[in-house]
Amino acid sequence: MTALPLPGPIAPPPRLLMGPGPISAYPSVLRAMSAELVGQYDPFMTATMSETQELYRRVWATQNDATLLIDGTSRAGIEAAMVSLISPGDRVLVPVFGRFGHLLAEIAERAMAEVHTIEVPWGQVFPVSAIEEAIVRVKPHLLGVVQGDTSTTMLQPLDEIGAICAKHGVLFYSDATASLGGNPFEADAWGLDAATAGLQKCLGGPSGSAPITLSERAVELIRSRSKVEAGIREEGDQDAADFIRSNYFDLGMILDYWGPRRLNHHTEATSMLYGARECARVLLLEGRENAIARHRLHGDAMLAGVRGLGLVVFGDAAHKMTNVVAVAIPEGVAGDAARSALLDDFGIEIGTSFGPLHGKVWRIGTMGYNARKDAVLQTLASLETVLRRLGASVPAGGGVDAAMDVYGSAPSAHAPGGA
Ligand SMILES: Cc1ncc(COP(=O)(O)O)c(C=O)c1O
Repeated sequence: MTALPLPGPIAPPPRLLMGPGPISAYPSVLRAMSAELVGQYDPFMTATMSETQELYRRVWATQNDATLLIDGTSRAGIEAAMVSLISPGDRVLVPVFGRFGHLLAEIAERAMAEVHTIEVPWGQVFPVSAIEEAIVRVKPHLLGVVQGDTSTTMLQPLDEIGAICAKHGVLFYSDATASLGGNPFEADAWGLDAATAGLQKCLGGPSGSAPITLSERAVELIRSRSKVEAGIREEGDQDAADFIRSNYFDLGMILDYWGPRRLNHHTEATSMLYGARECARVLLLEGRENAIARHRLHGDAMLAGVRGLGLVVFGDAAHKMTNVVAVAIPEGVAGDAARSALLDDFGIEIGTSFGPLHGKVWRIGTMGYNARKDAVLQTLASLETVLRRLGASVPAGGGVDAAMDVYGSAPSAHAPGGA
């Protein structure tokens, strides 16, 4: 039998990732991830872990000591929070306004919660009063809310919800995967007990690491559900009756790995740690406010640009995330053919959609490293060509001109860092 020839070294084609994430990573993040490995308890490693925790406290705007990374994609963070904070039978309330609300409900269900949901049609968010009314009715142990639901592009206002949760004794958790770094998020000021994210959106990294922050109240609950695996147990370690039903996502053991005990739970994903550290460093060098303003500017330019091409924007534009827009696929245009042409002819990726929006809208992102003028203009110019060649009637130059008008009337924005 002749062996198949071995493939060559990895050589991805040049791509401009303008979908809802993942997006093109900051070059400095990719460089950081190729740095040399050190041992798990090398002083450099433990110092880098502590340094990364401090950087993410600033990213989340929190004093929470329990601020760290979960190894895995964003849903690993969600799952760690849910399985560690929810005991079987606990009531959990999830306001669902898109695919990722359904995901929170699904993960809570797997953690054996009694799950209650409220829903609004995709493209809308909840008035705070609707969430409070449901809290009063359901009396949940935990409220789980997505901040920015990528499937619909909507951003749920969270700033008043923490006070309501505190008033009713409810733990407040949010999934900020799609929004963190490009939209305001204030973990302490908004009264969050737990929040999780990923790197592959506004933070400008690859997927594979999930930043998490936990309030003291959340940590206390996690501690009350402790269990340490037999091979690393020490004197004084005792299993709680209601121990956390996942080993990998047991936040008690994970906290002890990141904390002074340095419990040998898992082997921290060193290259992801380096990448996550660089994502936070790039964001903080630019400044959180500047990064949000940059996402807003380029998001506004893209919004004006797609409208300038005659495309109809989906959802309540007043509650849209800064960093992604959904547009109706024009009548008579094959959505997948247009996306393929953009990718094949221009090297640009935009996103498809899920559930009720599948086949109806494209999602176009302007986030992280790609929240940049050249990326926005290149995408609009290419999209115009693709639409025209697929038979749509589009105003010549309408997208680029409308975006240029936004840039012309805006104060100059920061360029993205991490070059
Ligand atoms: C809001 C939100 N939550 C969770 C996820 C799941 O992330 P991951 O695919 O990194 O597990 C995504 C992914 O797009 C998301 O947008």
